[in-house]
Order: sequence, then structure tokens, then C-alpha cells
Amino acid sequence: MNKPFTSTTAADLPAEDLVTEGRVHSAIYTDPAIFDQEMDRIFQHTWVYIGHGSEVPKKGDFRLRKIGRQPVIMVRAKDGEIKVLMNRCLHRGAVVAEVESGNTNFFHCWFHGWTYDTDGTLVQVTKEEGYEPGFCKKMGGLARPPRVEEYRGFVFACLDDSVPPLRDHLGQAADLLNYMIDVSPTGTLHLDMGVNKTVYRGNWKLVGMDGYHVNYVHASVLESWSDDTDAGIAAMHKNDPFDDKALTRTRDLGRGHVLLDFREHRMATIDKYLDFLRGEPGGEDYLKSMNDAYGEDQAKHNLSLAGDPHLGVFPNLQVIGNQIRIVNPISADETEVLMFPVRLGDVPDEINTLRLRQHESFYGPSSAGSPDDAEIFERVQQGMKATVNPWIDMSRGLHREVVEEDGTRVGKISDETTQRGQMREWRRLMKGA
Ligand code: FES
Repeated sequence: MNKPFTSTTAADLPAEDLVTEGRVHSAIYTDPAIFDQEMDRIFQHTWVYIGHGSEVPKKGDFRLRKIGRQPVIMVRAKDGEIKVLMNRCLHRGAVVAEVESGNTNFFHCWFHGWTYDTDGTLVQVTKEEGYEPGFCKKMGGLARPPRVEEYRGFVFACLDDSVPPLRDHLGQAADLLNYMIDVSPTGTLHLDMGVNKTVYRGNWKLVGMDGYHVNYVHASVLESWSDDTDAGIAAMHKNDPFDDKALTRTRDLGRGHVLLDFREHRMATIDKYLDFLRGEPGGEDYLKSMNDAYGEDQAKHNLSLAGDPHLGVFPNLQVIGNQIRIVNPISADETEVLMFPVRLGDVPDEINTLRLRQHESFYGPSSAGSPDDAEIFERVQQGMKATVNPWIDMSRGLHREVVEEDGTRVGKISDETTQRGQMREWRRLMKGA
């Protein structure tokens, strides 16, 4: 039977009592004490996406990022390597970089003027006669996450040294990332087209990877696309990929990584998509370069998702549409989402312009897609304040879910296989397993 405990006591309960197969206690979205536990047990003990190498192309380029609530700097240091540094002065703890991005030779702490090299080494303290000789050397440099690894330009860090290597952690998710990377004939991505930022008044676990909501939350967009015969995104959504009779699927890839899987669906209509591309400025040249780079069959395969794997990498990375998305938890009921549209390397400018316009049409700040998502997340957060029956149902498709040989769970496109996959990893990490 459902336990009628309130959110004020839920944080004392074991994670398995809060998340069971097919239902979740709403306190995991609303309780500040559980949020604090998440920042510790999840964000300090698993790989967290930091950024893409192309965001810091030149020596001295840096970006401010977070691991949970902890501030870090991703910087291309003097040696040309990307470093991730804890953004916390060795002296009395102030951040040493405060602007979101830039290029610098040094990080200066403005409290008392200590100076750090771009690799984090403490190179100078002010009024140094107040310290023993050799003080800087003894202090070393800014702390670093013990683990930093990269998959094809995607930089991750982990505060826990005991985690498996990044490639093992990503598993099949790495193969899915390739779908975004390999729509460039040279496998090159550039995140240099700015960022859309959204802050919504809702929990960080609400965002993304839901194949059930599209026909309802986005009904007006789909309706407008239905009049827009064969253009861009509309062409990809012909034959309603969100119908359970379609070839689309939801997938739980393990370790919280989940997928709205459009691969079969899109391959079935790939020739139509290629015709659409051929009709666009730069399209013929783009297709030729893809065929030259990969061969015709592999190029078709690479292009089938149009660079959109629709993948969630737990806990904070989502690769959706033409964007790399970072989910930043702020508090139990506030979340920041950063959406970076991707520019493909070595393709005609017109193709990148087309992709950017497509991104803006659904995910841009004045678009018809993302704002509706933010609105519905806020409505969920409001509704969850009612605690008489605090349980959320996530059982859709449980009875028809298929487990493949490699352990992947597969559901229909509207099934909550993806939500259950994320919750399974949430429970594992919150148990400290
Ligand atoms: Fe940074 Fe004092 S806190 S120099």
C-alpha cells in the first residue's frame, strides 16, 4: 500500500522506498534534504559532463561549469591540454574566475590578489614577505577533480576516483554520441554559436527523454508542422514517430543513460530526408562530402538521425536535436538548462545555417517548443506540493517492456522505460551502491 508519509520525513527513508519499479515518491522532486543528498551521492560519485573541447579552442580559453553545485573551470592551459580546475582560491576560498567565459593568461583572485597559472599552479601571492620562502610551491595549485576524461571531444569529470573509466560508464551511450559527431564528414563539432539558457521553477530530474508528452504539450507545434509539408524538422516527423505503432522505441541503456530511439523509423524514410537535403542550398555538396568520407551506406546510416540521437546521459548531459544540453540543478525546485547549438565542421555554411534555424524553431527562446516544456515542468512542481497521495506513476509500458540480451530495456515510444532507467540509476547512486 502507498505510505502516506510526508516530504518532511522522506529524506530519512532508504532510496528503494522512494523509487520502486513503476512509481516514485514526489519528495525526490520537492524535498530540499533529498536534493542535498543528490548533490553528494549522485553528483560527487558519477561522471558529470563538463563541456566540449571546441568551447576552448585556444590556449587560455576558459568556461565556467558546475559539478552539481560545485564551481569548476574548464580551461585550455598553456600546454594545450584541457584542464578542469575547482574554482576556489587556495587562500580563503573565493572563486578565482567569475565571468562565464573568456581568455586569460592567469586567474586572479580579487579578494587578496593571489594569482594562478592556467593549469591552476599558484604563481604569485601578494605581500609575499608575510609567508615563508617557497610558499607558492608548497601550496601547489587549484584543486582538480581526481578524474577527467574525454570521449571524442566531450569532457567529463568525476570527484570520485573509484568510478569505472568514462568509456565503460558511457557504454552504448558513446555509440549514440557518434550519431551527432559523424554527421560532419570529418567528425568535427564546434560549439561556437552561443547558448540558449532557460531557468525553470522545477526539479532537475523533470527535463528530457519523454516520448509520451510530445503529442500533448507540443500539439500546437505539430499542428503547424502538419501544414508545412516537407520542410526540415517537419519532414523528420512525418508518419508520427510518437505513435506507438511506429518503429520508434524508448531504451534504457543502463547506468541511467536513456534514448528515444528514432533509428529504424528514420532509416525507413532516409531517402526522403536525403531528397530534402539535396533541395537545400549546400545540400548536394554536403551529401557528396559525407559519401566521400564514409561511403554511401555508412553516410546514410550516419545521416539517418540528422545528428540527433535524442540521448540522455545521466545525470546532466542531453544530446537532442542540434544541441548539446547541460542540466544544472540549482535547488529542489529550480533548474538551469543550457542549450548549445552545434556547428558541424567542414560542411557548407548553408547547412549549418539550416540546422541553426531548425534549432531556433523548436528550442530557441521565442520558439514554440522549449517554453512549453518549461511551463509544464513548473505545473508539475506546483502539483507535487499536494502530498495526500504523494506517489507519481511511472509504470507505462512496464507489462510490455522487452529486455534484450545485453540488458537493454526497450519499450514503445510512449512507454516510461526512459524514466524508469533514470530512476534505477538514481536509486543505485543514492544507495551508495
Ligand atoms: Fe583568494 Fe584571499 S581568498 S586571495
